[in-house]
Amino acid sequence: MEIDVLQQQCLACRRCGLCETRTNVVFGMGVPDAEVMFVGEGPGASEDEQGLPFVGRSGQLLNHYLEAIDLSRETNVYIANIVKCRPPQNRDPLPEESQACMPWLRQQFQCIRPKIVVCLGRVAAQQMMDPGFSISRDHGKFFEKQGTLFMATYHPAALLRYPVNKPAVFGDFVNLREKITQICEHTY
Ligand code: URA
Repeated sequence: MEIDVLQQQCLACRRCGLCETRTNVVFGMGVPDAEVMFVGEGPGASEDEQGLPFVGRSGQLLNHYLEAIDLSRETNVYIANIVKCRPPQNRDPLPEESQACMPWLRQQFQCIRPKIVVCLGRVAAQQMMDPGFSISRDHGKFFEKQGTLFMATYHPAALLRYPVNKPAVFGDFVNLREKITQICEHTY
């Protein structure tokens, strides 16, 4: 299925209670054949208002890290979230909300077929990689799953609260750049 068709279907989603409080569904954005895909947790207030992922303060910080390794949502990556609608008060998505929403992400994944998936924060890492995943222990490491490489790093919103982890994230992005040069054909 084309990603645009999938997006149209997703915009009408009513599979969980978050549809009652959302302003916009935040489907995802970026290059439809990106080799690198970033997955966050769920939209915040700015994303809910604009219908686009990572457009608030944490998105600006994410853009800086992307830029540092010649990535951007305009040219070579795709960005999505575990849940497509904002959880009230920015709480973590409930397990039933993540479960209801995951089929959309799986279908996005099937359309885009990225070679590398970068999970932003614990919620995405535990959902995509391993329920016991620890960001502080395993950030920046690559794990292969069914032919795709997965890596997780700290969520940019967590970095805004604890800037002490910024150098670690920079290191993770340097590792990511190295991995891209090894396995991606048309990212740079
Ligand atoms: N945080 C997320 O996890 N996703 C967004 O899109 C914005 C903030």
